[in-house]
Amino acid sequence: MSEFKPGLDGVIATDTSISYLDVDNEEIVIRGYDLIELAGAKSYPEVAYLVINGELPNHKQLTNFEKILLDDSTFPNEAYEVLKLAPKKSMVMDIIRTGISFLAGFNDESDLMNTSHESNLNKGIRLIAEVAILTANSHRILNNQNIIKPDNSKSFAENFLGMILGHKISSKEAEIFDKILICYIEHEMPNSTFAARIIGSTLSDMYGAFVGGISSLKGPLHGGANEAAIHMLLDIESKGGSKIADKYIMDKLNNKERIMGFGHRVYMKKYDPRALFLRDYIAELESNIQNGKELHKIYKIVEEVMAREKGLYPNTDYPIALLFYLLGIPIPLYTPIFFASRTSGLIAHVIEQHNNNRLFRPRVLYTGPRGLKL
Ligand SMILES: CC(C)(COP(=O)(O)OP(=O)(O)OC[C@H]1O[C@@H](n2cnc3c(N)ncnc32)[C@H](O)[C@@H]1OP(=O)(O)O)[C@@H](O)C(=O)NCCC(=O)NCCS
Repeated sequence: MSEFKPGLDGVIATDTSISYLDVDNEEIVIRGYDLIELAGAKSYPEVAYLVINGELPNHKQLTNFEKILLDDSTFPNEAYEVLKLAPKKSMVMDIIRTGISFLAGFNDESDLMNTSHESNLNKGIRLIAEVAILTANSHRILNNQNIIKPDNSKSFAENFLGMILGHKISSKEAEIFDKILICYIEHEMPNSTFAARIIGSTLSDMYGAFVGGISSLKGPLHGGANEAAIHMLLDIESKGGSKIADKYIMDKLNNKERIMGFGHRVYMKKYDPRALFLRDYIAELESNIQNGKELHKIYKIVEEVMAREKGLYPNTDYPIALLFYLLGIPIPLYTPIFFASRTSGLIAHVIEQHNNNRLFRPRVLYTGPRGLKL
């Protein structure tokens, strides 16, 4: 048997042509392109199309694809009723997870369990639209707000942010939100993608893989870090702001606590290229709210202290946490939005898994007793 690596650290789990973290060259390779270049020049639907299909869309392909991403005709009204039944103290991630399971039931069993490329593509692309609807409306329903259905006269990002906020948003806000969605879209083999592929490898369906993926992504060591990061920045602000930020972090580090939004299993001591790209947008939004400038100041101090004390740099959740706050997005939606974006990556991975499947079934290093007698 092969060497035991706790946490599968550095272990290659599969071959893939979807994406690769080239840490030495500080590049996130997406189907051959640099993710940061894509984020600078393309929209979320264009990059989603690329991630899922392996090539950028032409005009007609993009128009058709965008239509599906804003189409709610397959989203049954009963699903809104399910959202309404959720206890008011529910976490949005849990309601979305339930919603995805519920939506699976609107497929005939033969369609649901069909793992062909075409069937997976159809189910998957519909799920991008449906998860965005679930995300925005779960939170709206929990807060006794009206349901907002997609407006197909808008771009995907403008519509999604509009459904979340319930008011008109500026083109600058839509543009920055679009770039955040692109930064979250696909990232090689994080825990949630691995979970989805493991589930897919049993020839289970796209919905099942999504439910596994969302459960994984909820954890604070993964997608949950963006919510934890903004809570920390707000805590620093409430306890004295930029004047105490250095000491606040030092106290946490001395207590051996983790600073959320910093560090990464693959980047380790290097800057996450997405965090570097997105941090420049903070200044563009800091005047959106009264405490924006102060939070930005605290943000920079925390970053300096982490580099100085631990040689650790922000991962993408750190700037996104503050950007979401400046956009006025409710904090319980930070991790759900990450998942909503990542649906495109998950679709690509489940399709790739099903197209060339081998069941994941690793072994263990057994450390328990042997030879016990009854
Ligand atoms: C993402 C993460 C789990 C990866 O960690 P990992 O590869 O398992 O690294 P380890 O847990 O082995 O940590 C290595 C060292 O760095 C330290 N470290 C790593 N991330 C840290 C953080 N965010 N804050 C403080 N110290 C951190 C560890 O304490 C450890 O220090 P030590 O060697 O002195 O004990 C980790 O960096 C983390 O918990 N980050 C915060 C959560 C987060 O932002 N997650 C989003 C990831 S995109």
